Amino acid sequence: MQSAQQPAQSATPTASVDARPAEARDKYRFVGPVYDLLSAFYSGKAIHEAKVAMLDEAHLKAGDSVLFAGVGHGKDAIHAAERGARVTVIDLSETMLRKFDDELVKQGKTHLDIRRVQADIFKFEEFAQYDMVVGNFFLNVFSEDMMDRVLKQLIDLAKEDGKIVVGDFALPQGNILRRQFQKAYWYVAVSLFWLTAGNALHNIYDYPAAMRRAGLEIKSIKRFSFAGLANYWSILGDKAAVAPAAKQAA
Ligand SMILES: C[S@@+](CC[C@H](N)C(=O)[O-])C[C@H]1O[C@@H](n2cnc3c(N)ncnc32)[C@H](O)[C@@H]1O
Repeated sequence: MQSAQQPAQSATPTASVDARPAEARDKYRFVGPVYDLLSAFYSGKAIHEAKVAMLDEAHLKAGDSVLFAGVGHGKDAIHAAERGARVTVIDLSETMLRKFDDELVKQGKTHLDIRRVQADIFKFEEFAQYDMVVGNFFLNVFSEDMMDRVLKQLIDLAKEDGKIVVGDFALPQGNILRRQFQKAYWYVAVSLFWLTAGNALHNIYDYPAAMRRAGLEIKSIKRFSFAGLANYWSILGDKAAVAPAAKQAA
């Protein structure tokens, strides 16, 4: 494993408050250590299933280069590396990357060849290098405008014929009661991360629509249920279909 690019830190030794710019603070320092525990409590196995849904034989081959953006504790990235992928993980949060290291040790997988980068996704410029770029529960962190920009960055990091995978909360479906339950369920999570990590507070995003807007062709959508509600999905988009005009504008 190797690490690269530390975010800039500008705190003075005598300052009694955290004087670093907002983007340099570790927003996950409080909730990060218990992130995966909360997610298991909140969704059973459904979140994990959504995160690894597209890392199967149909979509991932041994030797593929895969980038996990906003990797968090990274059980999905470890799964991909075990399947023979050449994995790079990136996260802005030192706390999350420490938990990723802990997870490798816990699973006895420190021998896996995983490159570890601490950086802002916008400062990561390995464009057109990855067969697959995975953003699991990453895009929901951002406001809608910013989410479109982050998605574009993920697409730019993928090779010309690469794949983009987004695992996240699914748009509510079914009758009005089910849809209201699903929305309420989402607002429990988004409010917690708004309060503890300063994430954007917003409705559930229509990721397939955002991916199509960005020029991707949606190849597969898989849904995952918890408590009888199909709360999560994993969406696989194909970059080969990005229209030439969109590529030129990029
Ligand atoms: C909601 S968590 C998801 C973590 C993980 N992918 C998962 O599914 O459990 C979002 C992650 O994105 C990271 N993150 C937020 N903004 C980022 C940025 N601009 N660049 C890189 N990582 C970022 C956070 O530190 C956090 O680990």
